[in-house]
Amino acid sequence: MSKKLYIKDLKVGDSIFGEIFAVKSFTRKASRNNKPYIDIELADNSGTVRGKIWSDDIANCEEVEEGDVVEINATVEEYNGPQLNITNLKKIDKYEIGELQQKSQFDIEKMWADVKKTMDGIKNPHLKKLLDNVFDKETTELYKKAAAAYRVHHAYVGGLLEHSWEMLKMADGVKDHYPKINMDLVNTGIILHDIGKMEEYVITTTIGFIDRGKLLGHIYMGAEKVKENLPKDMPEDLAEEIIHIILSHHGEPGMGSPIRPMTTEALAVHVFDVASSKMNTAYNHIVGDYGTDKYTPYIPQLETELYRSPYLSEETNLDTPF
Ligand SMILES: [Fe+2]
Ligand SMILES: [Fe+2]
Repeated sequence: MSKKLYIKDLKVGDSIFGEIFAVKSFTRKASRNNKPYIDIELADNSGTVRGKIWSDDIANCEEVEEGDVVEINATVEEYNGPQLNITNLKKIDKYEIGELQQKSQFDIEKMWADVKKTMDGIKNPHLKKLLDNVFDKETTELYKKAAAAYRVHHAYVGGLLEHSWEMLKMADGVKDHYPKINMDLVNTGIILHDIGKMEEYVITTTIGFIDRGKLLGHIYMGAEKVKENLPKDMPEDLAEEIIHIILSHHGEPGMGSPIRPMTTEALAVHVFDVASSKMNTAYNHIVGDYGTDKYTPYIPQLETELYRSPYLSEETNLDTPF
């Protein structure tokens, strides 16, 4: 079964018949006068949309959960942006997964070619060998598809690659200000810092945690992967510096890192990581499907709501991410 109508094209007043979406959330609630209703969030490869199933229609809707794929009838109403009033919902098994998975807006092969170019430019033979060891065929394919997060930032196919690619560009942009910084370590650190995320999440129609990922976390798993792939003749102190970058990239113990960055190279990876994840979170809230009100909802990761500026650029040049 194929989609006919995508979320980005929904218009208030549209009627939808038999359209296919992935379920992002499905929550039973009760109104103030105690009538049951369901809050639902649906997705396809063009975005996400919120919806409601009011009490009179609940009998026409199957119980579903995150990750299921459904076919629905609905009308599109206005409630801080489009919202679906769903009158009929059933689970389906046959669908085109590419129509439903959210994907980076940037070309995956082009991003990978840029990352590969940075890897090829690494002069330190040990760091270069380490990257060669990590990026066998299977890991390369996984790295190109992986998401950088479960929710919040870069939470889509190609998100990990996009996040790392953006950080490499940030590092390249300021390298002349700090000529003594070891850019081979910074670039290797950026490319590998979230490598554990490939094994932390599984992407189907939505992004879910793998048990191992939930129990061990991507910081430990990333350090483990680097350790397993260290070239035999790599000096021990250099190996420690690259593992230090992985372990400290979240900046502080409260954010999941066992230690704070203690080298300028580790600090660089940490600040670019924060810059990329915060900018992506903010940008997606402003231009994404989070509504059209003057202020966004409170965003815990940014510890504020955001203002939707009327001065937003009309530009849509995708060669420059932000
Ligand atoms: Fe991370
Ligand atoms: Fe990161």
